[in-house]
Amino acid sequence: MHAIGVDIGGTKIAIGVVDEDGRILAQVRRETDPDDVASIDRAIADACVELGDQYEVGAIGVAAAGFVSADRTTVQFAPNIAWREYPLASKIAALVGPQVPVVVENDANAAGWAEFRFGAGRGASDMLMLTIGTGLGGAVVVGRELVRGRWGVAAEVGHMRVVPGGHYCGCGHEGCWEQYASGSALVRDAKAAVVAQPHLAGRLLDLAGGERKRIKGPHVTKAAQEGDALAVALLAKLGRWIGEGAASVAALLDPEVIVIGGGVAGAGDLLLTPAREGFTAQLSALGHRPVARIELAEQGNEAGMVGAADLARR
Ligand code: BGC
Ligand code: NA
Ligand code: ZN
Repeated sequence: MHAIGVDIGGTKIAIGVVDEDGRILAQVRRETDPDDVASIDRAIADACVELGDQYEVGAIGVAAAGFVSADRTTVQFAPNIAWREYPLASKIAALVGPQVPVVVENDANAAGWAEFRFGAGRGASDMLMLTIGTGLGGAVVVGRELVRGRWGVAAEVGHMRVVPGGHYCGCGHEGCWEQYASGSALVRDAKAAVVAQPHLAGRLLDLAGGERKRIKGPHVTKAAQEGDALAVALLAKLGRWIGEGAASVAALLDPEVIVIGGGVAGAGDLLLTPAREGFTAQLSALGHRPVARIELAEQGNEAGMVGAADLARR
């Protein structure tokens, strides 16, 4: 059975038809306004109707960046989008029509599921996936099962406190891991570095058209790939935060593979090498236990869409 997968990001929505082997048969993209949740519903529904006219689909899976209820209908809360107790599944179903069931999943869970079934986590029994974008999302697979928790909101690793009294987080607390290991953290640090170390920031500023405010994650990645020292250091710091935090998660879960996905994963080894270093530096009992592999996601930006579609069929 084909299913439609929808991935709602902070700035974009990806909607695609996915077959049972995780292959994308067709896909469209729409812009989002994270403050206008009704416009998100309409954009998704329009695209679903458009794709549904071309393909026979049996389910719609929607990946949303927030805390999703155990019955997979409602976004209870989202740190970076204006959803509060938002019945996303029924809102979309009301626009698309009742023929096709709509299922909502946490975005990182969906991406993690895609990596587990079809990507870098294939064949593993225990996996941690970290999706690094606007926020820091987590997916946990234990014994080949996605861990959902009692109320559906397990694996919110981005909101583990790593710095008491640290940066304020969209979840209402301070010092969450997401504030140090996300694309938003990278951009915040890049902007700060332009002020603090202007003599090193020339290339970064260039790529952003000369305006500090317009610096985005991909600018940092591009500069780093060209060998720009400041950009390399910014990615190394991010990678270090990722790896050190992952070591704490490993204390709890003992995964065999840790998959790094999301936009920032495009930085490849510039991120992966410091992440591996941070991980081994903080891993307890190092030398007396196997060390989990840390790998880049294989499904790229499409992971959330593919995973949401696959989970909607189950
Ligand atoms: C949210 C998660 C989400 C992650 C990645 C976090 O801020 O709490 O639900 O999976 O961002 O989008
Ligand atoms: Na999650
Ligand atoms: Zn938080």
